[in-house]
Amino acid sequence: MPAQFRRRRTLINKNGRMRKKIVIGNWKMNGSLSRNAELLGAIAAAALPEEAEVAVCPPFPYLQQCRDALQGTSVGWGAQDVSEHECGAFTGEVAVSMLLDLGCRYAIVGHSERRAMHGETDDLVARKAQVVLAAGLVPVVCVGETLEEREAGLTHAVVLRQLDAVLDLLGNQSTGIVLAYEPVWAIGTGKTATPSEAQAVHAQLRLRLVEVGAGDVPILYGGSVKPDNAGELFQSPDIDGGLIGGAALKSGDFLNIVAAV
Ligand code: PGA
Repeated sequence: MPAQFRRRRTLINKNGRMRKKIVIGNWKMNGSLSRNAELLGAIAAAALPEEAEVAVCPPFPYLQQCRDALQGTSVGWGAQDVSEHECGAFTGEVAVSMLLDLGCRYAIVGHSERRAMHGETDDLVARKAQVVLAAGLVPVVCVGETLEEREAGLTHAVVLRQLDAVLDLLGNQSTGIVLAYEPVWAIGTGKTATPSEAQAVHAQLRLRLVEVGAGDVPILYGGSVKPDNAGELFQSPDIDGGLIGGAALKSGDFLNIVAAV
Protein backbone atom coordinates (compact mmCIF):
# COMPACT_ATOMS: atom_id res chain seq x y z
CA MET A 1 0.00 0.00 0.00
CA PRO A 2 1.46 3.44 -0.91
CA ALA A 3 2.80 5.33 2.12
CA GLN A 4 0.35 8.22 1.85
CA PHE A 5 -2.63 5.85 2.13
CA ARG A 6 -1.15 4.03 5.09
CA ARG A 7 -0.75 7.41 6.73
CA ARG A 8 -4.36 8.39 6.03
CA ARG A 9 -5.66 5.11 7.31
CA THR A 10 -3.98 5.44 10.68
CA LEU A 11 -4.41 9.17 11.24
CA ILE A 12 -8.09 9.25 10.38
CA ASN A 13 -10.38 7.15 12.52
CA LYS A 14 -13.41 5.21 11.38
CA ASN A 15 -15.69 8.23 11.82
CA GLY A 16 -13.52 10.15 9.39
CA ARG A 17 -12.10 12.44 12.11
CA MET A 18 -8.45 13.19 12.73
CA ARG A 19 -7.10 12.08 16.08
CA LYS A 20 -6.27 14.95 18.39
CA LYS A 21 -2.72 16.30 18.39
CA ILE A 22 -1.47 17.06 21.88
CA VAL A 23 1.71 18.66 23.21
CA ILE A 24 2.26 18.58 26.97
CA GLY A 25 5.16 20.18 28.82
CA ASN A 26 6.39 18.14 31.78
CA TRP A 27 8.35 20.64 33.86
CA LYS A 28 9.51 17.95 36.32
CA MET A 29 11.03 19.49 39.48
CA ASN A 30 11.95 22.81 37.87
CA GLY A 31 10.71 26.37 38.12
CA SER A 32 10.16 29.26 40.48
CA LEU A 33 7.40 31.84 40.70
CA SER A 34 9.38 34.35 38.67
CA ARG A 35 10.67 31.92 36.03
CA ASN A 36 7.24 30.36 35.61
CA ALA A 37 5.65 33.77 35.20
CA GLU A 38 7.86 34.45 32.21
CA LEU A 39 7.27 31.05 30.65
CA LEU A 40 3.51 31.09 31.23
CA GLY A 41 3.23 34.67 29.99
CA ALA A 42 4.88 33.72 26.70
CA ILE A 43 2.73 30.60 26.28
CA ALA A 44 -0.49 32.46 27.14
CA ALA A 45 0.32 35.22 24.64
CA ALA A 46 1.29 32.91 21.77
CA ALA A 47 -0.97 32.22 18.80
CA LEU A 48 -1.27 28.44 18.98
CA PRO A 49 -2.30 26.19 16.10
CA GLU A 50 -5.97 25.28 16.44
CA GLU A 51 -5.40 21.62 15.68
CA ALA A 52 -3.16 21.18 18.72
CA GLU A 53 -4.14 20.78 22.34
CA VAL A 54 -1.44 22.26 24.55
CA ALA A 55 -0.88 21.85 28.29
CA VAL A 56 1.80 22.26 30.93
CA CYS A 57 2.43 20.12 34.00
CA PRO A 58 4.30 22.11 36.67
CA PRO A 59 5.27 20.89 40.14
CA PHE A 60 2.18 20.79 42.43
CA PRO A 61 2.86 24.11 44.24
CA TYR A 62 2.65 26.00 40.95
CA LEU A 63 -0.67 24.63 39.71
CA GLN A 64 -2.50 27.67 41.07
CA GLN A 65 -0.05 29.95 39.27
CA CYS A 66 -0.75 28.07 36.02
CA ARG A 67 -4.45 28.41 36.58
CA ASP A 68 -4.14 32.16 37.12
CA ALA A 69 -1.97 32.59 34.04
CA LEU A 70 -3.77 30.25 31.64
CA GLN A 71 -7.44 30.47 32.58
CA GLY A 72 -9.37 31.80 29.60
CA THR A 73 -6.72 30.61 27.11
CA SER A 74 -6.84 27.34 25.19
CA VAL A 75 -3.83 26.03 27.13
CA GLY A 76 -4.55 23.46 29.81
CA TRP A 77 -2.55 22.41 32.85
CA GLY A 78 -2.12 19.25 34.81
CA ALA A 79 -0.14 17.42 37.47
CA GLN A 80 2.92 15.21 37.13
CA ASP A 81 1.54 12.56 39.46
CA VAL A 82 -1.43 11.87 41.73
CA SER A 83 -2.27 9.66 44.68
CA GLU A 84 -4.33 6.53 44.17
CA HIS A 85 -6.13 7.40 47.44
CA GLU A 86 -9.11 9.68 47.86
CA CYS A 87 -7.98 11.55 50.99
CA GLY A 88 -6.63 10.92 54.49
CA ALA A 89 -3.37 10.08 56.22
CA PHE A 90 -1.03 9.95 53.21
CA THR A 91 1.68 12.45 54.05
CA GLY A 92 3.12 14.16 51.01
CA GLU A 93 0.50 12.84 48.59
CA VAL A 94 -1.90 14.88 46.47
CA ALA A 95 -5.46 13.68 45.78
CA VAL A 96 -7.17 13.88 42.44
CA SER A 97 -9.99 15.97 44.00
CA MET A 98 -7.33 18.62 44.72
CA LEU A 99 -6.26 18.59 41.09
CA LEU A 100 -9.88 19.04 40.14
CA ASP A 101 -10.14 22.01 42.54
CA LEU A 102 -7.22 23.61 40.74
CA GLY A 103 -8.78 23.21 37.32
CA CYS A 104 -6.40 20.54 36.05
CA ARG A 105 -7.23 18.80 32.80
CA TYR A 106 -4.48 16.16 32.91
CA ALA A 107 -2.49 14.05 35.34
CA ILE A 108 0.62 12.21 34.21
CA VAL A 109 0.80 8.70 35.67
CA GLY A 110 3.58 6.14 35.50
CA HIS A 111 6.36 8.45 34.35
CA SER A 112 9.53 6.35 34.18
CA GLU A 113 11.17 8.54 36.84
CA ARG A 114 8.37 7.57 39.24
CA ARG A 115 8.53 3.94 38.23
CA ALA A 116 12.32 3.85 38.70
CA MET A 117 12.85 6.16 41.69
CA HIS A 118 9.61 5.60 43.60
CA GLY A 119 9.02 1.95 42.86
CA GLU A 120 5.72 2.49 41.06
CA THR A 121 4.43 -0.79 39.65
CA ASP A 122 2.25 -1.42 36.60
CA ASP A 123 -0.69 -2.12 38.92
CA LEU A 124 -0.25 1.09 40.89
CA VAL A 125 0.00 3.09 37.67
CA ALA A 126 -3.22 1.46 36.45
CA ARG A 127 -5.02 2.34 39.71
CA LYS A 128 -3.81 5.94 39.43
CA ALA A 129 -5.11 6.10 35.85
CA GLN A 130 -8.43 4.79 37.15
CA VAL A 131 -8.85 7.46 39.85
CA VAL A 132 -7.88 10.20 37.41
CA LEU A 133 -10.47 9.04 34.88
CA ALA A 134 -13.14 8.62 37.55
CA ALA A 135 -12.60 12.26 38.53
CA GLY A 136 -13.20 13.36 34.95
CA LEU A 137 -9.57 14.21 34.19
CA VAL A 138 -7.36 12.70 31.54
CA PRO A 139 -4.57 10.37 32.68
CA VAL A 140 -1.43 10.62 30.56
CA VAL A 141 -0.15 7.08 30.96
CA CYS A 142 3.60 6.73 30.33
CA VAL A 143 5.20 3.54 29.10
CA GLY A 144 8.74 2.87 27.93
CA GLU A 145 11.63 0.45 28.01
CA THR A 146 15.11 0.87 29.50
CA LEU A 147 18.24 0.57 27.38
CA GLU A 148 18.91 -2.94 28.73
CA GLU A 149 15.39 -4.02 27.83
CA ARG A 150 15.74 -2.58 24.32
CA GLU A 151 19.08 -4.29 23.81
CA ALA A 152 17.58 -7.57 24.99
CA GLY A 153 14.85 -7.25 22.34
CA LEU A 154 12.16 -6.74 24.98
CA THR A 155 10.85 -3.31 23.92
CA HIS A 156 7.47 -4.43 22.65
CA ALA A 157 6.93 -6.92 25.46
CA VAL A 158 7.68 -4.27 28.11
CA VAL A 159 5.52 -1.47 26.73
CA LEU A 160 2.62 -3.85 26.03
CA ARG A 161 2.83 -5.26 29.57
CA GLN A 162 2.74 -1.72 30.97
CA LEU A 163 -0.19 -0.78 28.72
CA ASP A 164 -2.11 -4.00 29.36
CA ALA A 165 -2.10 -3.42 33.12
CA VAL A 166 -4.02 -0.19 32.45
CA LEU A 167 -6.33 -1.59 29.77
CA ASP A 168 -7.23 -4.61 31.92
CA LEU A 169 -8.27 -2.43 34.83
CA LEU A 170 -10.04 0.27 32.82
CA GLY A 171 -11.87 -1.96 30.35
CA ASN A 172 -14.10 0.06 28.06
CA GLN A 173 -13.12 3.28 29.81
CA SER A 174 -9.68 2.96 28.25
CA THR A 175 -10.86 5.29 25.48
CA GLY A 176 -10.45 8.20 27.94
CA ILE A 177 -6.68 7.97 28.38
CA VAL A 178 -3.77 9.57 26.58
CA LEU A 179 -0.78 7.28 26.16
CA ALA A 180 2.84 8.47 26.07
CA TYR A 181 5.65 6.29 24.77
CA GLU A 182 8.85 7.44 26.44
CA PRO A 183 11.89 5.21 25.93
CA VAL A 184 13.79 5.57 29.20
CA TRP A 185 17.13 5.76 27.37
CA ALA A 186 15.92 8.84 25.48
CA ILE A 187 14.69 10.86 28.47
CA GLY A 188 16.87 13.84 29.25
CA THR A 189 19.81 12.22 27.47
CA GLY A 190 19.73 14.13 24.21
CA LYS A 191 19.30 10.74 22.47
CA THR A 192 16.00 10.62 20.63
CA ALA A 193 14.43 7.54 19.13
CA THR A 194 14.51 7.97 15.36
CA PRO A 195 11.08 8.56 13.85
CA SER A 196 11.07 4.99 12.52
CA GLU A 197 12.11 3.49 15.89
CA ALA A 198 9.40 5.49 17.64
CA GLN A 199 6.79 4.74 14.97
CA ALA A 200 7.48 1.00 15.23
CA VAL A 201 6.61 1.04 18.94
CA HIS A 202 3.65 3.39 18.46
CA ALA A 203 2.27 1.04 15.81
CA GLN A 204 2.41 -1.88 18.28
CA LEU A 205 0.68 0.19 20.94
CA ARG A 206 -1.93 1.30 18.39
CA LEU A 207 -2.65 -2.29 17.40
CA ARG A 208 -3.31 -3.21 21.01
CA LEU A 209 -5.53 -0.16 21.51
CA VAL A 210 -7.50 -1.04 18.38
CA GLU A 211 -7.97 -4.60 19.69
CA VAL A 212 -9.71 -3.26 22.79
CA GLY A 213 -11.77 -0.68 20.90
CA ALA A 214 -9.62 2.27 21.99
CA GLY A 215 -7.89 2.93 18.68
CA ASP A 216 -8.51 6.68 18.89
CA VAL A 217 -6.42 7.13 22.05
CA PRO A 218 -3.72 9.69 21.23
CA ILE A 219 -0.19 8.29 21.59
CA LEU A 220 2.42 10.94 22.39
CA TYR A 221 6.16 10.46 22.01
CA GLY A 222 8.52 11.69 24.72
CA GLY A 223 12.29 11.63 25.10
CA SER A 224 14.57 14.50 24.09
CA VAL A 225 12.03 16.08 21.74
CA LYS A 226 13.47 19.39 20.52
CA PRO A 227 12.34 21.95 17.95
CA ASP A 228 14.67 20.45 15.36
CA ASN A 229 13.43 16.85 15.62
CA ALA A 230 9.76 17.45 16.54
CA GLY A 231 8.52 17.96 12.97
CA GLU A 232 9.87 14.67 11.71
CA LEU A 233 8.65 12.73 14.75
CA PHE A 234 5.17 14.24 14.59
CA GLN A 235 4.82 13.30 10.93
CA SER A 236 4.86 9.59 11.77
CA PRO A 237 1.39 8.15 11.33
CA ASP A 238 0.93 6.90 14.90
CA ILE A 239 2.65 9.75 16.76
CA ASP A 240 -0.02 12.17 17.89
CA GLY A 241 2.13 14.75 19.65
CA GLY A 242 4.70 14.93 22.40
CA LEU A 243 5.40 14.88 26.11
CA ILE A 244 8.20 17.40 26.42
CA GLY A 245 10.63 17.65 29.34
CA GLY A 246 13.74 19.83 29.06
CA ALA A 247 12.58 21.75 26.00
CA ALA A 248 9.33 22.71 27.76
CA LEU A 249 11.27 24.99 30.10
CA LYS A 250 12.16 27.46 27.36
CA SER A 251 9.17 29.21 25.86
CA GLY A 252 10.78 29.54 22.41
CA ASP A 253 11.60 25.85 22.21
CA PHE A 254 8.25 24.73 23.58
CA LEU A 255 6.29 26.96 21.20
CA ASN A 256 8.36 25.82 18.23
CA ILE A 257 7.60 22.21 19.15
CA VAL A 258 3.90 23.07 19.38
CA ALA A 259 4.12 24.72 15.97
CA ALA A 260 5.59 21.48 14.57
CA VAL A 261 2.29 19.60 15.03
P1 PGA B 1 12.95 15.10 28.05
O1 PGA B 1 11.87 14.48 29.04
O2 PGA B 1 12.18 15.80 26.94
O3 PGA B 1 13.75 16.05 28.87
O4 PGA B 1 13.76 13.98 27.51
C1 PGA B 1 10.67 13.93 28.60
C2 PGA B 1 9.89 13.36 29.76
O5 PGA B 1 10.49 12.77 30.65
O6 PGA B 1 8.66 13.49 29.82
